Amino acid sequence: MVLSRSDAEANLDPSMPGIETLRTVTALRARISQWKASGSRVALVPTMGALHKGHLSLVRLARTQADRVVTTLFVNPAQFGPGEDLEAYPRDEARDATLLAAAGCDLLYAPNRAEIYPPGFATTITVTGVTEPLEGALRPGHFAGVATVVAKLLIQASPDVAVFGEKDYQQLQVIRRLTADLDIPVRILPGPIIRDPDGLALSSRNTYLTPVQRLNAPGLNRALREASRRLAAGERIDSVEAVAIAEVLSHGFDAVDYVEVRNADSLDRLGPAKLDRPARLLAVARMGRTRLLDNIAVSPR
Ligand code: PAJ
Repeated sequence: MVLSRSDAEANLDPSMPGIETLRTVTALRARISQWKASGSRVALVPTMGALHKGHLSLVRLARTQADRVVTTLFVNPAQFGPGEDLEAYPRDEARDATLLAAAGCDLLYAPNRAEIYPPGFATTITVTGVTEPLEGALRPGHFAGVATVVAKLLIQASPDVAVFGEKDYQQLQVIRRLTADLDIPVRILPGPIIRDPDGLALSSRNTYLTPVQRLNAPGLNRALREASRRLAAGERIDSVEAVAIAEVLSHGFDAVDYVEVRNADSLDRLGPAKLDRPARLLAVARMGRTRLLDNIAVSPR
């Protein structure tokens, strides 16, 4: 087979069935311009790979809103802190490509590190306010890394729609703020959290759990659902949070980073008295070195 120049740049691999993979912004822009010129609406689903049904649900949601779906795969070093799991983060591009093809994704954009951060790269996007509590307080620099890479991916692909999961609820609010503030012309579409039948939110990091930890892990979601019932029944926010933390710890977690009721948009703290409007309950708890995130919508009865 003779590869044309654009095929070579696209790094089309005949052994990967069903999905075109591009690695350069030049090739990505050429393909997306071609689609847009023929009137297609384009959706983008940014990921770090190690795909599971949560990611694939975003691809399917994207399909309902656009004619073409692009998934990005880039394990973004800028959003990992020192001592975090950048090296250990699961990577299996061939498996991801197969799953994406089956889910109806049209294109995989998997740039290498130098394509995203070429030598001399010196720009960081800092979002204030919504980045500051919760994950922002515990992972300094994390949201600057996320905001910078997401801004780049949106500028590179210029999609009509970009889909982000509610699993990373604070990240979703950060991206909404970022795109509004920078007038990036894209609609941000949230996707619901996909869970295992026992309630555990799917996460690429769940593969770190030992069998015993995996058995205990749904305790986090159980505690959030119980807390949601108490809030609806009019119990004070501060006592509901305290009870939920104790419950998570009793389910075999080693530590709780936070369980907090927050304004669903600004993520400002609510309470200490009872809930008087719809809000979000966000939690992170640890099993060994693995941090598990979860959140649910809460509202007064
Ligand atoms: P990653 O953790 O791979 O997640 C990619 C997208 O999948 C995010 O929008 C995330 O919220 C969503 N997602 C993860 N688990 C989910 C679940 N169980 N149900 C529904 N959606 C789920 O989030 C990132 O990558 C990165 O920070 C990224 C935005 C790609 C920037 O590097």
